Amino acid sequence: MKGSAKARANIALAKYWGKLDSALNIPVVGSISITLDALWTETEVEFNNSYDADTLVLNGEVRKDLIEHATKFLDLLRIYAGVKTRAHIVSKNNFPTGAGLASSASGFAALAIASANALKLDLSQKNLSIIARQGSGSAARSIFGGFVEMHAGQNPDGSDSFAEPIIPSESWPLEVVIAITEKREKVISSRVGMTQSSLTSPYYLGWVKTSTKDLSAIREAIYARDFERLAEVSEHNCLKMHAVTMTSQPALIYWKPATVACIHAVKELRTSGVPVFFTIDAGPQLKAICAPDNSKKVQEVLQSIPGVLDTLVTGLGADAQKT
Ligand code: DP6
Repeated sequence: MKGSAKARANIALAKYWGKLDSALNIPVVGSISITLDALWTETEVEFNNSYDADTLVLNGEVRKDLIEHATKFLDLLRIYAGVKTRAHIVSKNNFPTGAGLASSASGFAALAIASANALKLDLSQKNLSIIARQGSGSAARSIFGGFVEMHAGQNPDGSDSFAEPIIPSESWPLEVVIAITEKREKVISSRVGMTQSSLTSPYYLGWVKTSTKDLSAIREAIYARDFERLAEVSEHNCLKMHAVTMTSQPALIYWKPATVACIHAVKELRTSGVPVFFTIDAGPQLKAICAPDNSKKVQEVLQSIPGVLDTLVTGLGADAQKT
């Protein structure tokens, strides 16, 4: 029983940081993201009764360190299908894995769809999103293309904690310039970082309390195609999340000197009249969001900053799909 799928990475404009329930992976705050066309994971899964354990090959390497989490995830689909069959997963990303470019988002979205396909499960996108969330919170959003909102939900079983599309990518075709300042995998996972923040940062409660306001401001800016407002609230939300991570104990400082230099460069570009804003997830890469007319200029500026190793430009992408 084989299945395959392709899912794209996403970046959050209103960020998810913190969990209400770690076992079910229910986020404490809702989030809003954009799906990126050029960054994707392709995954093939084979369930076979001759296998006695699940195995995972990621980017050509056997990853025993990731198998426990993958097995728990596959169990969700095995329960749906009423089988116990073990699986072999072969997955590859076309971008650096685990370095703040949301490989877990595209990874679990692709794995959910490929596995459902292999097991002949006819699941709705909502149910796929609920399943993907349990692999990685941000993966719930990668089921959909364009602008996407993840609802934290209220049900203790997580049944209303899923993502939904806001508007499709064609409705507001923004572009994203990614400045890569580090290619190695990050040392602390988001999962561990979130726990650390919730237990120790004095700003964590303020973060949670103000998230609803940011979410509605960002959602409204998207509906109104109001770039200035989207820029203002997204940057604020990003800096607030990083204020929480930096004030966790031990501190989580995701930025490199080049990340900070990119923040200043984006601010200067905006002051000089170029509509662009930044966001940064739990890693050192900066993502600059702008209209397609400006992406070349933004890329030139970011690429010239010392410590920026590479830049990628992408438009917004479509739903994840079986292949
Ligand atoms: C900073 O989805 O990687 O990128 O649910 O523990 O796997 P887990 O976390 P993950 O966290 C993403 C955090 C973020 C913000 C975001 O994408 O919303």
